[in-house]
Amino acid sequence: MPSTLDSYDDLPYESLPLPDTHPDYLRALARLYGVDAAPMASCRVLELGCAGGGNLLPLAWYFPGSQCTGVELARGHVDEANALITELGLNNAQVLHRSITEPLEDHGDDLGEFDYIIAHGVFSWVPRAVQDRLLDICGKHLAPNGIAYISYNTLPGWHVRGLLRDALLSYCAPGGRASERLAQAHALFDLIEPALRANQSLDAQLALKEIEYLRRAAPSYVYHEYLEEINEPLHFSSFMQRAAHAGLAYLADAEPWTMFPDTLGADAAAPFAAIADRLQQEQMLDLARLRKFRRSLLVRNDTQVRSTPDLSALDTLSYYADLSSDAEIDLGSATPQDFSSPAGNRYSVSQPLTKAALMLLAMHYPQALTWDALQQRAGELVIEHGGSLDAAASDAYRTELFSLIAYQAVRPTLETGASIDALAAQPCAHPLARAQAARGRIVASARHTAVELDALGATLLLHLDGTRSLQQLVALMSEALQAHGQNTDPALLESACVQMLWTFARQGLLLG
Ligand SMILES: C[S@@+](CC[C@H](N)C(=O)[O-])C[C@H]1O[C@@H](n2cnc3c(N)ncnc32)[C@H](O)[C@@H]1O
Repeated sequence: MPSTLDSYDDLPYESLPLPDTHPDYLRALARLYGVDAAPMASCRVLELGCAGGGNLLPLAWYFPGSQCTGVELARGHVDEANALITELGLNNAQVLHRSITEPLEDHGDDLGEFDYIIAHGVFSWVPRAVQDRLLDICGKHLAPNGIAYISYNTLPGWHVRGLLRDALLSYCAPGGRASERLAQAHALFDLIEPALRANQSLDAQLALKEIEYLRRAAPSYVYHEYLEEINEPLHFSSFMQRAAHAGLAYLADAEPWTMFPDTLGADAAAPFAAIADRLQQEQMLDLARLRKFRRSLLVRNDTQVRSTPDLSALDTLSYYADLSSDAEIDLGSATPQDFSSPAGNRYSVSQPLTKAALMLLAMHYPQALTWDALQQRAGELVIEHGGSLDAAASDAYRTELFSLIAYQAVRPTLETGASIDALAAQPCAHPLARAQAARGRIVASARHTAVELDALGATLLLHLDGTRSLQQLVALMSEALQAHGQNTDPALLESACVQMLWTFARQGLLLG
């Protein structure tokens, strides 16, 4: 009988869909580096340390032709994942209760090769022997052109977080229950915060910022990042040395902008751009950025990888984005205009073609448009609004779009997806959405983002089983609100329900 991990059973990790781990995204990025990875629709995915399956199982659900296997040691997490697998009848997903260090086999049969191996939030937080085995699994079980995604805390930047971790570890007695130690951590924040506020030094201000960040963070993150016994940040160069030892080579970073020296700013970029060796350049960029965290993509060392991205491959991909602008979009001139993501990240663009492309992508979200269709339709929009197009405009658009892709504001994809034009008379949410809404407030969207529901949204989603009209849904919601002593104007409630239904539709949670 495999053992378990008490601290995770005591304080389970809230596992969420992680867009940067999505095989379709990894495949699109790999194409820029000359690697032809397997299509999502028929790939084999392995996730090591998959917790309750919040990242893995939506992949299996949205892509029934894929085969998704998770490995997880904490008993509670495995039970949580298996309950969802059973409820959804997922016959393309399994979560194995075992340590990463145990043989990768099922009933004595080797599990074979995988097109994608994901280990997010695991490497820095497990003992050295488990880290080595994790790399070893990637080296031995990646299929040709397969991609491993491994994230880890990075030096030198993590030293900043380490300051608070040291304080917490010395204050919170080891060995107690996770929930008790977490309460002690908050007691320490309360104790030292006033003193830090009164202290004008830079290090006190830094610690204050970290405390503010931790107060907002999920408790399971705070515990497992700051109070677990093991948390080993490392330099990128050390990580790559160990990866090379396991037969792996570098493909790219899942956050592409981090690989480009010019993102340091015009004055700072030149000495970094002059470093010819790619790995050395990235290590130096970590020093310059004081980088804290990495999401490295690795391939087998027999894979041919380009050292710079092939920008012509952009034309072979499709794109999606969910950006909006508060101001009226000016397609007539190259004035800078801000667009923001649902998470609040802002991006400034100035080319009329780019602005038109972002408008089109928002209209079609979650559906993606091919490079050609996007450029052609954006061009038509610009001309309709009195603008003109020439080769220079087209080049500037290409540069701006590439920058948006590098910053992950626009995502490349090979899965076009679909959008909904009209709400059904009796809207129906798919079973994964309803199963997740019944468990909590986070639901995985068709684009692998975490959709956070409020209480009203969760109630509505739970009732979308395809048997109720809008009027019946509004009546149900009204009853639910009244049960909590709230009376709402029926017209207002109906409009709120319609708005929520459109939000669900845009996230791909409704059946067509
Ligand atoms: C910080 S959590 C990250 C969970 C998930 N990958 C995510 O990012 O949401 C680390 C996970 O690794 C699991 N884990 C730790 N050591 C393990 C081992 N030796 N074998 C398998 N799983 C392990 C823990 O139980 C936990 O679920």
